[in-house]
Amino acid sequence: MTTPLLLEARDLTKSFDSVRALGGVSLTIPQGEVTALVGDNGAGKSTLVRCLTGVQSPDTGQILFRGEPVKLRSPEDARKMGIETVYQDLALIDDLAVWQNLFLNRELVYPLGIVNRRKMIARSAEIMRELDVDVPTVRTTVRRMSGGQRQSIAIARAVAWGEAMVIMDEPTAALGVRETAAVEKLVRKLRERGVTVLIISHDMAQVMRICDNVRVLRRGRSVAAHPVSEVDGDKLVGLITGAIPGNLETAEAAS
Ligand SMILES: Nc1ncnc2c1ncn2[C@@H]1O[C@H](COP(=O)(O)OP(=O)(O)O)[C@@H](O)[C@H]1O
Ligand SMILES: [Mg+2]
Repeated sequence: MTTPLLLEARDLTKSFDSVRALGGVSLTIPQGEVTALVGDNGAGKSTLVRCLTGVQSPDTGQILFRGEPVKLRSPEDARKMGIETVYQDLALIDDLAVWQNLFLNRELVYPLGIVNRRKMIARSAEIMRELDVDVPTVRTTVRRMSGGQRQSIAIARAVAWGEAMVIMDEPTAALGVRETAAVEKLVRKLRERGVTVLIISHDMAQVMRICDNVRVLRRGRSVAAHPVSEVDGDKLVGLITGAIPGNLETAEAAS
């Protein structure tokens, strides 16, 4: 009774000059589950995500999608496989309306090259309704939105296009309690739809609330993987700092 893997990384390495960001990371991401990626600052989480989404190329190692080796040369390659990412900086354009941000670089076009504005506005409103995102109207410019609304819009954009998988890099780091709850609700909705989610989080209570399994990175290595039912906040903190050895650390690596 094993869940099929959507994405798998084998022995990824990535260095920036003398800094070894990834020192041979392997991980598996089960299809349809919410996986947390945790680790201290500098552990390599964002670098790993950038390698999994074609933003950066690993120096060595392999990535498999649905069991097949893939080469991701750009974010576009990941997008074509149905993988969308919500980055820490959100990548929203402030001067554009909500609907324009949702359709950024994917404008619906009529045969003669005319952009189908009405259809995009209608579809945007539908997406926001489906996801229960609270914005005044999709014609409002993003500049006028709160942090939580902006985060929700960035996630909604990823959700709208990420048919297979949505990756989020610290989606609630800058949010208040209510806004965080809204984002967590979105993650649950994704899960209900069968979308695979990878979420980087520093909030262990959040990991316990919304994730199925958790993966711990320490100094560019994957040191532990557990279903959340096997861990608690204290254990996760111990795994992150190294106070508790991980179940994937070899005796050699730990010494
Ligand atoms: N573009 C870069 N140039 C130089 N060093 C980098 C770059 N990106 C990441 N690093 C370094 O790689 C390590 C891992 O960084 P990162 O993946 O951002 O960690 P995390 O997201 O877990 O905080 C850190 O030491 C960081 O300073
Ligand atoms: Mg990071």
